[in-house]
Order: sequence, then structure tokens, then C-alpha cells
Amino acid sequence: MNPLVSYQVEAGIALLSLSRPPVNALGQPLRAALLAALQQAGSDAAVHAIILQGAAGLFSAGADINEFGSEASFAPPSLPDVLQCVTQLKKPIIAAISGTALGGGLELALACGYRIASRDARLGLPEINLGLLPGAGGTQRLPRLIDVEAALDLMISGQPIGTARALQLGLVDRVVAEPATLLEACRSFAAGLLAEHSPAQPAPRFARPGADLSTDFFPAYLASHEARWKDRLAPRLVLAAVEAACLLPLDDGLKREETLFKQAEASAQSTALRHVFFAEREAARIPGIEASIPLRPVNTVAVIGAGTMGGGIAMNFVNAGIPVILLEQKAEALERGLANIRKNYEISVQRGKLDATQLEQRMQLLRGTLEYADIADADLVIEAVFEKMEIKQQVFCTLDEVCKPGAILASNTSSLDVDQIAGVTRRPQDVVGTHFFSPANVMRLLEVVRGSATAPDVLATVLKLARRIGKVAVVSRICFGFIGNRMLEPYNREAHRLVLEGATPARVDGVLTGLGLNMGVLSMTDLAGVDVNFLVRDANRAAFAHDPSYYKLGDALYALGRFGQKTARGFYLYEGRQRQDDPEVIAIAEKLAGELHVPRRAIGEQEIHDRCLFMLINEGIQLLDEGIALRAGDIDLVWINGYGFPAWLGGPMHYAEQLGLKPVLEGIRHYRDTLGDYGRMWFQPAPLLERLVAAGKTRIEKL
Ligand code: 3HC
Ligand code: NAI
Repeated sequence: MNPLVSYQVEAGIALLSLSRPPVNALGQPLRAALLAALQQAGSDAAVHAIILQGAAGLFSAGADINEFGSEASFAPPSLPDVLQCVTQLKKPIIAAISGTALGGGLELALACGYRIASRDARLGLPEINLGLLPGAGGTQRLPRLIDVEAALDLMISGQPIGTARALQLGLVDRVVAEPATLLEACRSFAAGLLAEHSPAQPAPRFARPGADLSTDFFPAYLASHEARWKDRLAPRLVLAAVEAACLLPLDDGLKREETLFKQAEASAQSTALRHVFFAEREAARIPGIEASIPLRPVNTVAVIGAGTMGGGIAMNFVNAGIPVILLEQKAEALERGLANIRKNYEISVQRGKLDATQLEQRMQLLRGTLEYADIADADLVIEAVFEKMEIKQQVFCTLDEVCKPGAILASNTSSLDVDQIAGVTRRPQDVVGTHFFSPANVMRLLEVVRGSATAPDVLATVLKLARRIGKVAVVSRICFGFIGNRMLEPYNREAHRLVLEGATPARVDGVLTGLGLNMGVLSMTDLAGVDVNFLVRDANRAAFAHDPSYYKLGDALYALGRFGQKTARGFYLYEGRQRQDDPEVIAIAEKLAGELHVPRRAIGEQEIHDRCLFMLINEGIQLLDEGIALRAGDIDLVWINGYGFPAWLGGPMHYAEQLGLKPVLEGIRHYRDTLGDYGRMWFQPAPLLERLVAAGKTRIEKL
């Protein structure tokens, strides 16, 4: 018996079970084993119908992502060929779907004549998240089974759906309430098919998909989505493939799909997105900490401070069903904090993302208090009070007094030294930084700051918990700004300086958004607050005293009360969310440049790109060298999930690898040599970058 696909025949029905842990990825070995089992079932005279399931409660997570970009991807038998064989079997074949049927896994189920799912199953075509399109018939078979717009939606969103929706769409034939009875239901369904002499493959529900669509449906769809897709290739290829399903006979459509799939697979965007997929999983692994380390149970959470961050942080846990106690200093602040949380949930209700009952259920998981005694039993406490060392130390002294032994004590500080906070407690091993990003209930990034004494099980527990609340957690060692904000500093500095030298804010931001970033860095500064930026800088001023032009423009805007969006004036002028360049900012820049003897000139887009991006990259490489970040992939995750760097460029480190480390180094040296004192001050290549280039490396790694 093949260990990858088991084969059992009982009462005329063959049961084929995929068994390739952890997720039945349809790599070449599994494809070969499946094909052999299908052929055996096809020719076995004792077999009249076939049930295909995933062993251990998971159908299949699709093609093996490790194979993409290599010959293994289409190594025979290719997935499309195996699925073609499924469709040509002369015996009815039923997909018994439990757990997940994603990507090629769902396409395998689509190739089967019939599909029965257990209620908790999730079905989806997430290929787009990897810069791909469904490439094993999904773009052609799905629009023949369900409404073409719904099919398109599944592929474009990449979001899996539950079985209630799948049944409604006609994606599955039946849903079974209890997973344990799935096989039994499939067997009786098969018996029914045989009794009624049902065909191996029922006729397609939509023989001519999209027949009802208006003639300009596809161009109109493209026109209305293109702005959001920016430069992404995969959504365009999905659309082209679905259009082919509407225009071509199945066999021709399948050929078209294969061509489009290979184009996507070979693209730099897909390479980048696959890098992100694996980086996300790698980030959870910390060298020296075994995956089997016992974790601390976290069943109740306390949050100290019900302000902007505390409220958002609390929502994360409540959303995951974990009760939260919110502690404030004053009743008024507590009430305001709780009311803000309710307001946030009410907005979700208005948007149809939550119903009124769920809102109440969530609010019931939330309790406010002014008394530390009430949080004595919390398993995890997250402090989110004002960003002042003395205040935080005071809070941690109190936590040390009141919290039960073993409780994890976390700080949401965005810049302070976690070791100094831990140092005031008698249990520094239980202290860790959890740096959420604003809005904390929305942003996916969580920087987990590992103090010098943080215990391995504390770190492992927080990383696991982060997944439970839907965050991408990245471990950072302690430095000013941790990974993300420390890299933001030189990137933002260049943007400020470029305006001083003659570029307009809109031009600087335009280059960055043109690259695919959600927002240019100057718009981002206006959003976060020119004042907030100033205060952070002010606390660290001595470190930059050698540069007389350092953030001078930001300082000047601060002095004028131009705090950004909140005052309707910052780098831009705002009317609501609409922004426009402000001649006053240009005039200030001109005046400052004159005072500082900074020559003003026309600045090209390439220079804006290179100076901002290369400084960002250089700092990232330096962080890796210092051991603040564990790996280049971690840095990429921080920038994708916390700062809107486009995932399809793979994050700044992956992007640098794509540009080539040598050109990046040469670019930095070029500005060091051409920007005078300023260049010599700031454009110093990170020693690791120099070593990597000298060693002929193309990947960013420790050396
Ligand atoms: N190929 C290869 N490895 C995969 C995989 C896949 N399709 N899906 C998951 N894995 C691996 C992960 O890398 C991880 O490995 P590790 O333990 O060594 O880090 C392991 O399986 C477990 O994965 P997760 O840590 O993500 O486990 P979860 O339980 O949190 O999630 C999942 C399971 C929902 C299946 C999630 O892994 C997932 O979303 N996988 C990707 C699904 C996907 O994108 N499928 C489409 C693939 S492309 C395709 O099918 C093309 C086709 O159209 C031709
Ligand atoms: P905030 O000013 O909105 O909220 C702070 C809250 O803490 C206030 O409600 C205040 O009443 C309360 N508080 C102060 N001292 C307290 C004490 N001793 N005990 C109980 N409650 C107390 O501040 P915000 O923006 O929520 O920031 C909180 C922390 O999160 C800071 O350390 C900040 O640096 C960090 N942070 C902020 C981000 C942001 O974008 N706002 C992003 C990431 C981190």
C-alpha cells in the first residue's frame, strides 16, 4: 500500500485517503500516488464508486508551495493532468471535504463529480495571495459550477468561505453536521448515485458560464478594480482566465489557464509573495526555543490604560473570545475608553461585519476597573499607559506587587527600553514588550520585544497567542524604535531632506505610492502627527546633533502648529481627507534651505526612490547585523504588516535582493560621494551590506 494515498474497498466503494502531513500539499509524490490509486480504482472491477478524503481531518491545502518556481511544479504527473484523470473516470467520485480544501485542494474537489463537506470545513481559492491564479482547472470548472461573479469573487478575494455559503452557492452538494459522520454520509450518497445510475460527472450547471453577463462586464470589472490592484499582476490574470472560461470551450479554457498560471508562477511578484508566506511561518520559530516548550495558559487578559492603544488591544482579545479587564486611573477615562470600544463595534455592525448580538457578546467579555486587585488573577497583563519611563516603571512596580506568580507582564511601549521596565520588578523573566500598531484592532503587526531576561516560555507563549488573535508577530531585540520605527527614521529623514532640497511633498510621496506603498511617508507623518514625530525626535535629539539640517522642516512645521491631519495642515493642506500641496510648506522649505546653505534643485524620481528606499534597506541590514532582527524575512514582515509596504514586492529586504545588493551598495556610495557633508554623514553603507557584496551574495543574511 502506498503510504501517501491509502486504498480500501468496502461494499463496492473505494475509499482513497490522502495522507501527506501536515496539510496534504499536492506535491509530485502525492500526485503520483493519487494518480496510481485513481487508476487502480478505475480498473478494479469490485469498485463502483469512489470516495476521496484527506486523512486526519484535512482534505488538502492545495499545490505544494515549495515546488513553485522549480521543475517539480509541473513534474509528471502534473496536477492538471491528475485532475483531468479524475474527470474522466467512469465511476462516480465524491470528495469528502473536512478541514480545509484550498487552492489545488479545492480544484481536486471540483474535478470530482460530487462534493460533501463537514460543517466546519473551509473552502477557498487563495492562490492570489501567492501571486498566482488557480492553475488546476479552478478558473474554468468553478464558473461552470457556480455563478460566475461569485466564482470570480472567491478567486479575487482569496478568502475561504464556510460550508453554509458553499452550499448556498452550489459549491458543495451536501453539508454534514458532524465530522464523524462525513464518511457515512458519503457512502450513503454513493449508494444513492449507484441506485439511480447517476453519471460519473453530472452535466455542468452552467454550460455557458457568464451567458447572462453584459458584454462589457470584464472591461468594466477591470476598470472598477484597477486602482485598488495597483501593479498587481495576479488579479488581472485571474480575470483573464475567468473571461476565457466564459468565451472558450472547457479544453481550450484549461490550456489558456495553464499559460496564464505559468506566467504568474514565473513572475517576480509571485516569488515575493511566496517568500512572504514562508517568512510568516518562519517568524514564529526562535532559535534555541523548541517548538515543544510548554506554554503558559492565557485565559484572561488585563490591559492597563484605556486610551487609543489600550482600547484597540483589548478588542483583539475580546474578538478571539478571551475575557479582558481594562484598568484605568480615573472613572472618566475608563468610561470614555469603554464607550470608544463600543463605538468601534457599532461601526462594524453598521458595516454588516458584526450583528447586534455579537456586539453585546463582545462587550460582555470586557470589564472595566479602577482597582489593581481586580487584575491579580490575569494570565497576561498589557500595559498601554503614557509613554514615560517613570510612569511605566510605577505601573510595573504595582503589577509586581499584585499579579499572580507566572503572569506575563507586557508593555506596549513604542520606544522605551523594556529591560529598564523589567528591572523594577522582581520577575524580569516574565516581562516582554508587545508593540501593537495603531489602530491596534486592525493592524496585523505585533513586534514582540525580547528583553535580556525574558524567559523562553514567555516569548513562545506570546508568539502563539499572537496567532490566536490574528497577528503576525515578529521578535525584535531592544533598540530605539525596535525594528520598524528605527527603519522609519532614516527613510523619513530622507523624505524631509528631499523637500528641503527642492522636491515637493506630493512628489516624494508620489514616488513611494507609485511603488505600491499604501501611503507616502510624509502623508503618513501627517496622519500619525507631526507633533508626535517631533516629540519622539526631541527625546533623542543628542544623537543627531551633528546634522544641522536634521528634520529641520518637521521642526518648523511643528513650531507653526501644523500637526498634520488633526489640524488640517501639516506637510499638506487638508479638506476632510482630501489633501493638496501647500505653497507655504514650499516657502518654508526654501527659506530653511537658504539658511542652511542647502542648494535647491530639480530632483528626479529615481533619486527620490533611491535615497528613501536605500536608506530604509541599509538600516534594515544594519539591524540584522546587530542582532536586533533575527532574519531578513522578519524585517520584511514588519514593513508589510506595519507600514504598508507592498507584499508583492516581498518587503524591503526582498526588494533589495531583487534590485541587486551590488546596485544598492553602489547607490548608497554614490550619494555618500555626491551629497557633500550630508552624504558623508548619512550615506554610510551598513558593514554587512559591504560584506555581502564582497562575498558575492545575492541574499541578505548574517555573515
Ligand atoms: N504547500 C506547502 N506547504 C504548506 C502548504 C502548501 N500549500 N500549506 C501549508 N503548508 C505548510 C506550512 O508552510 C507549514 O509548514 P511548517 O510547519 O514547516 O512551517 C505547515 O504546512 C502548516 O501550515 P500553517 O503553519 O500555516 O498551519 P495552519 O494550521 O495555521 O494553517 C492552512 C493551515 C490554512 C492550510 C495554511 O497553511 C494555508 O493557508 N496554506 C496555504 C494554502 C494555499 O495558499 N493554497 C494554495 C496553494 S497554491 C495552489 O494550490 C495552486 C494551484 O491552483 C495549482
Ligand atoms: P493615550 O494617551 O491614548 O492613552 C493612555 C491611557 O493610559 C490614558 O487613557 C490614561 O488615562 C491611561 N493612564 C495613564 N497612566 C495610567 C496609569 N498609571 N494607570 C492606568 N492608566 C493610566 O496613549 P496611547 O496612544 O494609547 O499610547 C499608549 C502606549 O502605547 C504608549 O506607550 C505609546 O507609546 C504606545 N503606542 C502608541 C501608538 C499610537 O499610535 N498611539 C502606537 C504604538 C504604541
